[in-house]
Amino acid sequence: MYRGTAKLTEPCIMGHEFIGEVVALGANFHSSSTGRPHLYSTLHVGDKVVSPFTVSCGECHFCRVGFTCRCVESRLFGTPLTPGGQAQYTRVPRAGGTLYNLQDIPDGSLLADSSLLLLCDILPTGVFAAFQALSHAKTLPFTTRQPYPLSASPPQMGDVSFLPFLEEDKSLTMAVIGLGPVGVCTCIALLDMLVTRKLKFNVIAIDTNEARRAKMASIYSIIGNQQFGEFQVADASNVKELVADLTKGVGCNAVLEVVGNTSALRLAYELVRPFGCINSVGVHSDHAVPYKGVELYDKNVSLDFGRCPVRAMFPMALELLLKRQDVLGSVGGETSLVEKIASFDDAVQIYDDFDKGKCGKVLFDPFK
Ligand SMILES: NC(=O)c1ccc[n+]([C@@H]2O[C@H](COP(=O)([O-])OP(=O)(O)OC[C@H]3O[C@@H](n4cnc5c(N)ncnc54)[C@H](O)[C@@H]3O)[C@@H](O)[C@H]2O)c1
Ligand SMILES: [Zn+2]
Repeated sequence: MYRGTAKLTEPCIMGHEFIGEVVALGANFHSSSTGRPHLYSTLHVGDKVVSPFTVSCGECHFCRVGFTCRCVESRLFGTPLTPGGQAQYTRVPRAGGTLYNLQDIPDGSLLADSSLLLLCDILPTGVFAAFQALSHAKTLPFTTRQPYPLSASPPQMGDVSFLPFLEEDKSLTMAVIGLGPVGVCTCIALLDMLVTRKLKFNVIAIDTNEARRAKMASIYSIIGNQQFGEFQVADASNVKELVADLTKGVGCNAVLEVVGNTSALRLAYELVRPFGCINSVGVHSDHAVPYKGVELYDKNVSLDFGRCPVRAMFPMALELLLKRQDVLGSVGGETSLVEKIASFDDAVQIYDDFDKGKCGKVLFDPFK
């Protein structure tokens, strides 16, 4: 939006991440509401809520199956049609399906208020990128230690005649391109999933910006667990050689693209191994995808793109938020994801600084 790729032609209230307190409810909210998302009968004035960055009704086909970002009623907050949350008051359409009531969180008191804002978008998006990569059919041989396609579908009959995996076949090598706030959340989520599942791994986190690499390295210094794998930050300029060295020239199993430009997409292709996948959550403009069909065919590369279904990813993101209050719940420290909480008076400067990569995640307090 700020960089102009969304081609906005009229002023609008920005902000697609917001938390708040319910001050008024629409006529559809009443205790006898049935057959609808439960918030229609349980949400009250005074409840604290988190809003995903898009509206999802909770009632259509896409919402019912968990693809909430593609709800037929979907709207993006912070656009002319749906004014955003950088304001004292915000109207939430289809709120019974969209909102998450913080009263429903059992350990909610353990969560810093500032960290709740991360649930609106960037933390679920990081969890989504990591989850998509680790649950992809092409990654399963490395998480199950079974060759493809037995990794997804155990044989009912017949002989399995593959040779056993060598040590080098058991390790997952993954790259995360882009270490802005979403890329950092992606690394935190990915490392948590890999360590929890006791998988052997190598993760390379890449950014062209030195300060962004330094922030990620500081965060890793407190969340790292070297027991199962290795993690390193790298500049984009020498990363191809690094990945080649680490994998004997084979490449990454999966590359998570968290930038949103064609140079990052191209780098992802160069780093991914044959039969690997590129999981892109970067928001792309109308530039063509920088690969020819033949390049994708000749490497059997899977491309996975798009918006995070935040409302569906909420429980996984919440669990991670509770676990990682050390990084996600603090403000302003060397190892904090959130750099500061600012007033709207400073917004012009902060938007400019963020655009130039001079600062990281900043929250606005509309009452400051
Ligand atoms: N899919 C979704 O639902 C979703 C949700 C939230 C954000 N996003 C998108 O995720 C992306 C990242 O968001 P952010 O807030 O972290 O943005 P950001 O601009 O702060 O971070 C992008 C980072 O990528 C780095 N970079 C740029 N080109 C690079 C390259 N060729 N190689 C390596 N690094 C490169 C930049 O230095 C920067 O640190 C954006 O495109 C954003 O719109 C998508
Ligand atoms: Zn829906």
